[in-house]
Amino acid sequence: MCGIVAYIGDKEAKPILIKGLHRLEYRGYDSAGIALINGGLKIYKTKGKVSDLEAKIEGLKLDSTIGVAHTRWATHGEPNSINAHPHHSNSQKLAVIHNGIIENYDVLKKALIERGYQFYSETDTEVLVNLIEDIQKNEQVVLDEAVRIALNQVTGAYAIAVLSEENPNKLIVARKGSPMVIGIGDGEFYVASDATPIVEYTKSVVYLAEEDMAILERGKEIKLKTIKNKEKTPYIEALEMDLTALEKDGYDHFMLKEIFEQPRSIRDSMRGRLNADKGIVSLGGIADYEQKLVNAKRIIIIACGTSWHAGLVGEYLLEDLARIPVEVEYASEFRYRNPIITENDVVIAISQSGETADTLAAIALAKEKGATILGICNVVGSSIARSTDAGSYTHAGPEIGVASTKAFTAQVTLLTLMALRLAQIKGTIPASRWMQLLHELESIPSKIEKTLQSADVIKEIAWQFKDVSNFLYLGRGYNFPVALEGALKLKEISYIHAEGYPAAEMKHGPIALIDNNMPVVFIAPNVGIYDKVVSNIQEVKARNGKVIAIVTEGDEVVRSMVDFVIEIPVTEELFTPLLATIPLQKLAYHMAVMRGCNVDQPRNLAKSVTVE
Ligand code: F6R
Repeated sequence: MCGIVAYIGDKEAKPILIKGLHRLEYRGYDSAGIALINGGLKIYKTKGKVSDLEAKIEGLKLDSTIGVAHTRWATHGEPNSINAHPHHSNSQKLAVIHNGIIENYDVLKKALIERGYQFYSETDTEVLVNLIEDIQKNEQVVLDEAVRIALNQVTGAYAIAVLSEENPNKLIVARKGSPMVIGIGDGEFYVASDATPIVEYTKSVVYLAEEDMAILERGKEIKLKTIKNKEKTPYIEALEMDLTALEKDGYDHFMLKEIFEQPRSIRDSMRGRLNADKGIVSLGGIADYEQKLVNAKRIIIIACGTSWHAGLVGEYLLEDLARIPVEVEYASEFRYRNPIITENDVVIAISQSGETADTLAAIALAKEKGATILGICNVVGSSIARSTDAGSYTHAGPEIGVASTKAFTAQVTLLTLMALRLAQIKGTIPASRWMQLLHELESIPSKIEKTLQSADVIKEIAWQFKDVSNFLYLGRGYNFPVALEGALKLKEISYIHAEGYPAAEMKHGPIALIDNNMPVVFIAPNVGIYDKVVSNIQEVKARNGKVIAIVTEGDEVVRSMVDFVIEIPVTEELFTPLLATIPLQKLAYHMAVMRGCNVDQPRNLAKSVTVE
């Protein structure tokens, strides 16, 4: 949720930290701060964005070759400069940045108050930094030992970096439940919540595992141990990340760039996995688990938000093609509802970031009950990817816009490949039909290229409806999840209230909302139960609703009934989500831009939800 970045070495720390914060700003952006050692520990922080922090410290001479910085998504205490990180200890000699939640902070705080400590913010982090100071004082131990002892007293989640005025050549970092990666340079270290601030300096990284801590000393080797004091050999990995993927590349926003990247990201997700001419579908990452999947009593898909919507499309695909029963669960509900899970169940966890706290907890629960856990993640080396038995990465590339776009279509692509592979093994569809589907799937990226060209009509629709307060999205079958996803995109970036429903459910309540001010988006390609969807459109038009329809190119029936149409190329019903989602992403994008919203960093949201 928050972004943390730290540096120790021989370079000037401030520009590295500020640039790193910009890269991590998608994780949280309600306040930001930096701490450096410059003739003593200096902390600067402010409410607002990283650019506000930059403005605040502009012109200050802050020479320092060690520092920590933070961009925040508030959990404890409102976003203001007092609650912003870094937090210092009462002596003002220690500073801590923290991502996560210390659950027992209240008990610890009371004990520290009794021992004379004062607190200025409402945060759990200020408790942690004073706890470290208290231990250092009372136990007479070195900084890293004090951090280690403190971490054994806290419950909850953390990724922390500790800076000490008295140890200007040392940085202590640790993680539990929140991600942290360390870049290894030449006698220097870069630390961050993900690899994006590190990639331009070094490609050698160490991902901290749960309850790991690292002692980073200028000019020395990294020292790694667990918080239980067990020494570990660092596993240095090569970072595979392209720096250009982190830039806007001429687009106004990351979200728009990512929408337009989808033909590429889907091709990348299919590369080496689909060869229609040779009749091959293979997902190497889960090859050893195919029999387990085929024999599974059922598949349980767990995810949150947009990834949950991809899971719903997966349910249609896996049941339809492979005839395996599927349940799709919100991870946050699954983990707390005492679900029935057996060793014959296969759980598929879907997550772009691979760090979503509820999904991680749901995986832990399913694991405990003996289920096999597979993952579909975008971020390589992420916590979810590491906590599953096996899995497949989507190759969407870094997704920076907070609203998920290319990750969704990449997730659906992987689920499609999985369903096709299982259908092949089980023989649930005739071979000729199976081959036909493979060829059609291969053509989807170029059909998306075509879909992406329909800019003018979408801008016109956005202009027409940009001032409304409500929107309804309706679809059936494979396009019901698309309706949910379209509504989510609109509400999260434009702040217009939007609901997605199965089109036939409209009669059971939402129809009461229809009047001549109510825009209704129908996902109505000419596939499946198209005629039923046409009847649903008539029901809305009969009540003077304004209808925008996503239709198959050349559809004159729906065009004659509705106010606006957006065409998508002809495809098989099961692939329509991959095409129909595109115009809905663009509609949300243009509406948000026309309403003056911050598209890439919508209010109250963060890209990676590492708190439950
Ligand atoms: C919406 C969006 C969120 C995420 C959700 C799960 O555009 O991005 O709804 O889909 O927070 O995140 P991941 O996929 O990282 O587990």
